[in-house]
Amino acid sequence: MEYSELILNRESIRNYDPNQPVPEKILKKILEAGRLAPSAKNNQPWKFLLISSSPLLEKVKTSYQRDWFQDAPQILVIIGMKDQAWVRGYDGYNSVETDVSIAMTHIILAAENEGVGTCWIAAYNPIVLKEALNRSENEQIFGMTPIGYPKHGFQKTHVKKRKSLEDIIEFL
Ligand SMILES: Cc1cc2nc3c(=O)[nH]c(=O)nc-3n(C[C@H](O)[C@H](O)[C@H](O)COP(=O)(O)O)c2cc1C
Repeated sequence: MEYSELILNRESIRNYDPNQPVPEKILKKILEAGRLAPSAKNNQPWKFLLISSSPLLEKVKTSYQRDWFQDAPQILVIIGMKDQAWVRGYDGYNSVETDVSIAMTHIILAAENEGVGTCWIAAYNPIVLKEALNRSENEQIFGMTPIGYPKHGFQKTHVKKRKSLEDIIEFL
């Protein structure tokens, strides 16, 4: 898909067909877009957890109890390793959250390009999610998204509620 069309078409999908998992070949293409994302000093301080196995999937779903989320056939969780991220010498700023956000954006846009729906989720219960995933202290969870196809007949809104360019740009 052409880039500006892709940006315009992408929207958060809150409707998933539980019986239509994304084929492995397409998943790999989507995850490859995350792998290729830029990061500060090219440190790539991330891991992408693709959860499809049903006991773990069910546990992860308890961290975000929305009906539509329970239908997700697969969930991607993005992990960042703070100790692997670039740190700015002047003030100690650590780039981990910026880096994982860029990777997640690459993944979400690549999914759109494959006709696969996503919805970045931050409002999960972090204690429940952390316990479900049981990662080391260093592997911090920064977000997750369902990955899947909408149910038959689902229509996107095609509405972009955004501030105007005049409101957000300053030409100085
Ligand atoms: C960092 C971040 C966290 C988000 N968390 C949630 C969430 O917890 N639940 C949800 O339904 N949508 C969540 N969203 C989706 C936003 O609500 C959505 O991107 C925004 O309303 C713009 O709509 P659009 O994605 O359809 O263009 C999140 C998006 C971002 C970027």
